Amino acid sequence: MQRLEPGSVIGILGGGQLGRMIALAAAQLGYRCCIFSDVANSPAEHVSEKTIVAAYTDLSALDIFAASVDVVTLEFENIPEEPVKYLAEKVAVRPGPNVLATAQDRVIEKKFLNKIGIVTTPFEPVANLEGLEIAVEKVGRPSVLKTTRFGYDGKGQVKIDPDTGLETAFSQMGKGPGILEGWVDFALEISVIVARGMDGEIVSYVPVENRHVNHILDTTIAPAGVSPSVAAGAGSIARQAAEALNVVGLLAVEMFVTRDDEILVNEIAPRPHNSGHWTIDACAISQFQQLVRAICGLPLGSAGRHSDAEMKNLIGDEVKVWPKILEEANARLHLYGKSEIRSGRKMGHVTRLKVRAGRGER
Ligand SMILES: Nc1ncnc2c1ncn2[C@@H]1O[C@H](COP(=O)(O)OP(=O)(O)O)[C@@H](O)[C@H]1O
Ligand SMILES: [Mg+2]
Repeated sequence: MQRLEPGSVIGILGGGQLGRMIALAAAQLGYRCCIFSDVANSPAEHVSEKTIVAAYTDLSALDIFAASVDVVTLEFENIPEEPVKYLAEKVAVRPGPNVLATAQDRVIEKKFLNKIGIVTTPFEPVANLEGLEIAVEKVGRPSVLKTTRFGYDGKGQVKIDPDTGLETAFSQMGKGPGILEGWVDFALEISVIVARGMDGEIVSYVPVENRHVNHILDTTIAPAGVSPSVAAGAGSIARQAAEALNVVGLLAVEMFVTRDDEILVNEIAPRPHNSGHWTIDACAISQFQQLVRAICGLPLGSAGRHSDAEMKNLIGDEVKVWPKILEEANARLHLYGKSEIRSGRKMGHVTRLKVRAGRGER
């Protein structure tokens, strides 16, 4: 396995908090980071040696980036595919552009998963208003209309209830094309994060429960309170998807568990995931360090946990409670260094360890 020695430079596409936490994990192992972001003063920039601020489509900036780094990874999937392909001709990109191409389009993603035998939410592609009318006939109501690309934190999504007008819904979605998905009356939402190395080795974190507020992840509970068979099923879905995509790095798989314990995949993300932030504080090796190990050709670490944990995102004004969190025993505070608080913006998170008696005294 071709190993990148500590001291090598990891290029990260995207400058958000995920990039920041990758860079911190990289630093721990002696790697240096170069961020490529289309905005200045990003959370990842604050903790990295070098940052290139340019549009993702700026080829000369991409040339400079490629020449500055030994390997490239990405911290969000809403990057156009072409620049990533362009980079991959010059430097190793892990996970590769093929993974990004599949994961950044909800229709391609679901078709791919179905093809390898993984059950997803029922869906129909929606090209235009007429297509939406036909799709609603097939999928029924309630359902949810989403943009196929570039959505996050519930952006670009419109719920179609029994009385929702389709013309309004279609225009509310924003830039199409879209996808209509059957609304799942789930018992709970879970996710599984797996890391896969260059030699195909896979480690899998335990399934966690994710609670959303206003379509944004609010709380992750590790482990999820699911039956052993659901936990095993969820784990094997994530492994199977990572193998079929030939991922080198991380794959997060978001799933719905129905009331009769059926697992439906919602979406996949080939990068660190918000529902894995708890691994920094409750596991020997975090999702971020696993990513660094995978893309640098190092052996993966254990995905086992030493504590159960609950991760709470600090969204918008919620971050103002940070001094109180410092007073709590077993609470681990993470602030992302974002200068401006905006509603719906992820400003930080706190992981509360559920430490067993006798182990967590102050
Ligand atoms: N088909 C669905 N049925 C029920 N809830 C859904 C469905 N699709 C999305 N949601 C809810 O909205 C959240 C965000 O949707 P998701 O498709 O994961 O988009 P993103 O995370 O990219 O914004 C989900 O985690 C879930 O809580
Ligand atoms: Mg999601």
